[in-house]
Amino acid sequence: MRDKPNIVVLGTGGTIAGRGAGYANTSAYACSVLKIDEVLAVLPQGSRRANLRTEQLLQTGSENFNNDHLLLIGKRVSALLEQADVDGVILTHGTDTIEETAYFLHLTLKSVKPVVVVGAMRPPSAMSSDAPLNLYDAICVVTHPASRGRGVLVVSNDEIHTARDVTKVNSFKLEAFASPYGPLGYVVEGEPRFYRMASRDHTVLTPWSLARIDRLPKVDIVYAYGALDADTVGNVAAHAEGIVYAGTGNGNVADHIVAALREAARNGVQVVRASRTGSGVIVRNGAQPDDDYGWIVVDDQVPQKARVLLMLAMLNDPAERGALQAAFYRY
Ligand code: SIN
Repeated sequence: MRDKPNIVVLGTGGTIAGRGAGYANTSAYACSVLKIDEVLAVLPQGSRRANLRTEQLLQTGSENFNNDHLLLIGKRVSALLEQADVDGVILTHGTDTIEETAYFLHLTLKSVKPVVVVGAMRPPSAMSSDAPLNLYDAICVVTHPASRGRGVLVVSNDEIHTARDVTKVNSFKLEAFASPYGPLGYVVEGEPRFYRMASRDHTVLTPWSLARIDRLPKVDIVYAYGALDADTVGNVAAHAEGIVYAGTGNGNVADHIVAALREAARNGVQVVRASRTGSGVIVRNGAQPDDDYGWIVVDDQVPQKARVLLMLAMLNDPAERGALQAAFYRY
């Protein structure tokens, strides 16, 4: 029996590892300069709750993360969770794309051990930095028995979010993260309080295992606006295996774009209708006759996370549109 849980803290960079020239630099600072041991040094109290072991996995802003980074992070977290002496993992991460990495892990890890992804909106050097409290809350959540089996969690600003739902909704405030159905819970004075479960399948209930994934299909996002031209869409489609179309409103597609997306689908590119609004559902065969065109709809997922799900779903059934559509209603 160990005295405290054994937690591995993986560093990847971001604002939580940033440093500004002065206290007032809350938004202008150098990102990804502190090593993970220096990041943890802002929180000497952290080791009261857990035996913390650190690893520097990456050291870069999360805007740089591509599919190779996702696989690198996923495989390392997966390998750590398999170790009997590891009780949970914290991944420190830039906030910009934290939602994509967290969702990727949520869909692929095969473990009920807690995994918490955490970042900060202000670097440790700034006044009122959220780095120490976010880190402390992450340690409180990852070490709590109630966090087991909930999939990957994102902790920020006193809130615990499921990786499925959370998105970054503000570019500089501390209240930067929101889930359309609310957080799963709060962290109150070091105690996680959960109020609801995520209902969609994740981790051990998905077919994706990182041990078997070495490449992800190329899926791109096209953002709709009135002056978007069909050639641009065609050029993207020519180099992609899948396209998430971030349409206006309920996944609307402008008249002059429809042919380009239909052509893409005829050529075997998977076309997924999403919305650029940031929330809400896309109704199948609503704004467009998806059955006729061979298109898929996202259900309620935002484009950047729909991309992650489509890449994974295409690993199993790259050409089976019914199965791809079903994945959006299940995960
Ligand atoms: C990043 O995502 O790496 C930069 C921004 C941040 O961490 O808040």
